[in-house]
Amino acid sequence: MEKKETMILGTEPSDIRTAAAMIRDGGLVAFPTETVYGLGADGMNGEAAAKIYEAKGRPSDNPMIVHISSKSDLTKLTESVTPDMATLMEAFWPGPLTMVVPALPDVPRVTTGGLSTVAVRMPNHPVALALIEASGVPIAAPSANASGRPSPTTGMHVLDDLNGRIDAVIMGEPCRIGIESTVVDMTQDPPMILRPGKLTAEDLSRKLGKKVTLDPALLVRPDIHRIGDSLMETDTEFHPKSPGMKYKHYAPKAEMIIFEGEAEKVRLAIAEAKLERAERGEKVGIILYDDSRPEEAAHDFFAQLRAFDKSGVDVIFAAALKEDGVGFAVMNRMFKSAGYHTIQV
Ligand code: TXA
Ligand code: MG
Repeated sequence: MEKKETMILGTEPSDIRTAAAMIRDGGLVAFPTETVYGLGADGMNGEAAAKIYEAKGRPSDNPMIVHISSKSDLTKLTESVTPDMATLMEAFWPGPLTMVVPALPDVPRVTTGGLSTVAVRMPNHPVALALIEASGVPIAAPSANASGRPSPTTGMHVLDDLNGRIDAVIMGEPCRIGIESTVVDMTQDPPMILRPGKLTAEDLSRKLGKKVTLDPALLVRPDIHRIGDSLMETDTEFHPKSPGMKYKHYAPKAEMIIFEGEAEKVRLAIAEAKLERAERGEKVGIILYDDSRPEEAAHDFFAQLRAFDKSGVDVIFAAALKEDGVGFAVMNRMFKSAGYHTIQV
């Protein structure tokens, strides 16, 4: 693709106006949200949205999330707001919740990855909301990383991946949450979580007064092997409902191994493995979070992977977190990053 100058913008009203004009003209602008940075284009303009796939190197059957700045904009994208949609919107918007709903015909199929449903979110971030508002259109935005790389939680991460491939990046603060939104499919009853996030199945179930389900694919660990730099899926039984969940994601350049088991044993096993690798002259990175603070793990995880890549780490050893609450969402990312390579201790 043609190399272009990527404009670096701040968060002043004049910067937002410049960015909004670019979006209206069919350009690509990366911007901060409370979860991760998004790469935005006019979601109602198929040609503009198509450029996102090219800039990221993203498979075009992987649909994007459309971002709105007011709850009432949902009706621009879907025909009717069901009572369950209204309840979740009231409780969690603006916030890290994406709802998959039936798409109106005028939502371009480029944006929805060819599906008849569309994923919608109202982000809880002043810059993102101001940009959408000033653009006057819903903004289609996947995470602003090159396809397969860890999601970006700072403006520098975006530039590392996409400099010269997008029109502008709005450099804001590092993202508060650090992992992407919870995606819930509202086209089935009860709704089903397709991608876990900070808002858990329990959070949604409590508000709805019914038990939200989990895509069964979230509970299996497919057999994935690393071949050279890429991860190859060999398990044909693995069929997640959200297209994005089937791709190899978040992969650091380094080899990555997860240690699972009792905390003290895991620490020892990691220390031993580290010694062994260091003796072979390898550079080792270690990820060890406090199990009782999964929010911190969520906040740091992607940034940590990118930092290890920058410092040329050969292998990353990570201690598994307890898979409940936000820990479940963090482990979903961690397993993918490691290509599910796990050692039980
Ligand atoms: O926090 C977030 O959600 C960030 C920020 C920028 O808002 N965005 C983000 O977008 O993570 P992306 O494109 O990286 O992930 C979107 C996920 C993918 O797994 C995609 O397959 C799924 O949502 N998705 C989008 N539309 C869908 C649909 N109609 N049906 C099922 N899954 C859908
Ligand atoms: Mg993504």
